[in-house]
Amino acid sequence: MCGIVGYIGNKKAEPILLEGLTKLEYRGYDSAGLTILENENFKTLKNKGRVKELAQITNPENLAGTIGIAHTRWATHGKPASVNSHPHNDNSNHFSVVHNGIIENYHELRKFLGEHGYRFLSETDTEVIPNLIHYYFSEGNDVSKFGFLKAVKKATEDLTGSFAIGVLSVDFPDVMIVVRKDSPLVIGKGDGENFISSDIPAYLGFTRDFYLLKDYEFAILSKNTIEFYDNKLKPIQKEVTKINWDATSAEKNGYEDFMLKEIYEQPTAIRETIGNHLCSDGSLQFDELNFSKEFLSQIQKIYIVACGTAMHAGLSAKTMLENICEINTEVDVASEFRYRNPLINKNTLCIFITQSGETADTIAALKLAKAKGAITLAISNVEGSSITREADFVTYTHAGPEIAVASTKAYTSQITLLAILVMHFAEILGKNSEILADMKKSILELPAKAEQLLSDFSEIKDFAHEVYSSKDVFFLGRGLDYNSAVEGSLKLKEISYIHSEAFYSGELKHGPIALIEKDTLVVSTLTVEDLLEKSISNIQEVITRGAKTLVVTDKELAHSNFTKMIKIPETNKFLTPILSIIPLQIFAYYISKEKGLDVDKPRNLAKSVTVE
Ligand code: M6R
Repeated sequence: MCGIVGYIGNKKAEPILLEGLTKLEYRGYDSAGLTILENENFKTLKNKGRVKELAQITNPENLAGTIGIAHTRWATHGKPASVNSHPHNDNSNHFSVVHNGIIENYHELRKFLGEHGYRFLSETDTEVIPNLIHYYFSEGNDVSKFGFLKAVKKATEDLTGSFAIGVLSVDFPDVMIVVRKDSPLVIGKGDGENFISSDIPAYLGFTRDFYLLKDYEFAILSKNTIEFYDNKLKPIQKEVTKINWDATSAEKNGYEDFMLKEIYEQPTAIRETIGNHLCSDGSLQFDELNFSKEFLSQIQKIYIVACGTAMHAGLSAKTMLENICEINTEVDVASEFRYRNPLINKNTLCIFITQSGETADTIAALKLAKAKGAITLAISNVEGSSITREADFVTYTHAGPEIAVASTKAYTSQITLLAILVMHFAEILGKNSEILADMKKSILELPAKAEQLLSDFSEIKDFAHEVYSSKDVFFLGRGLDYNSAVEGSLKLKEISYIHSEAFYSGELKHGPIALIEKDTLVVSTLTVEDLLEKSISNIQEVITRGAKTLVVTDKELAHSNFTKMIKIPETNKFLTPILSIIPLQIFAYYISKEKGLDVDKPRNLAKSVTVE
């Protein structure tokens, strides 16, 4: 994910910006750049590659300016290339902008600006921002710094999507303006100097005092002052937040562990993954795939192949592909698929899901499918990873780097992307348009619902405290709920070392119920409306045999005798697994913490399984 930093003060800005960018490297990026404002001119230097390569370009320039903005870019619109890197300046080089987020309506804004004589150098969505600011500043008659602020505000009013932006103007060499909506941005307050960054750790070596901007709050920074404004440009006061983190927790953005940080990053990861594939006007696009109706109509069978959590994401995609696109779909673990001589021909589409893009079995399965003549599509979270170089087609989740071994945000981003992909296929094929309208609306609401879900987890933490010494835990579910059961069970076993298994609820009586005795913990997700009564009956069967029950549901269940019930927000039925897994991730996390284990690096496991 992109990262932003900025500096205004008495010192040379360039080394401070490069240091900030280096601290943001963990977010993942493919290019970097900066703008220094000196002698009322911009020096904008950018480069595809690492921050240290950017330094090789900037260092010999002897940049003396004491105000600047800088950026690490993770390509979304336009390939990784110097011309697409940030900062982006307007045509007349009056405004320079760094941006994190996605401008969904950039096509129409480009058209509008084009009609007013603006030209674009890059393929990015961002380049519309400095030009819009220029347009509104030239249109207005307020040439004070407040006029600059008004132009930034007017420009942001035209933007649909997400953004955190830092703006410089050659006409106002003593100030920097920032604003955010749905993308992170913090302001560090120093003594005679101020900083902006995408996260707190970037400048924790310089200050411990931070202001946390809310959506549509603006700030004008000078070296000695920070003025805040609300969305109507009314001045507001903001409280400074004192940060007392040590260096290690700073890397984790204040969270105790990477896993917890990544669980909390899910609303952002989902939002970034939706990105430009699904715009708020409901239009769907996958430029990287370019599939026609003729092409998709020839597909008779889809295989989804992956390992572990990525395979579980595939289970939800199967339900969607069969029900919405009406294409026969099978899900397989890569280590089986590659050795079972699957029935493949040129009318088979094989989708390979892998967060890292480096999983040996998944890569081998892809090579086999390709050799047998299948069409191959890879879904990865890592640009340029091995699998992306092998597949016929590639599309990416934008979850940002996942460090904890237990996959969380990659999983919810994978289902999000798969859901959008399924809708794209269905739209091209002209299938089930009535389902699509609700799904589109519901996907766009998902980040906010995930945020709501994450706002208070005290109940589940307390429940984890009660049951952490369990020896066995069973997970039950029917239909899509089974997918959350199997993924919840994997999360629990891998980080808590508690024996846990997932069963289809309907299979209980065919054997597993023999394992249930007094105080056995049984976890269930109850969201599939059509199967609700049956699923509740299955839970009653284990309660009768003395089991303790944890139930995750989006339904109003007035009278229940469950030991603990966790309510999640309602969404479109196909998307429920994206929300229902979150309490189960948190549950596994707190059980592991109660047991005093290393949550991020569970025993015997590696983040990326690059050997068979
Ligand atoms: O990088 P990949 O998505 O290919 O990894 C696949 C599995 O190894 C991975 O999802 C694993 O199951 C996770 N540790 C589960 O949390």
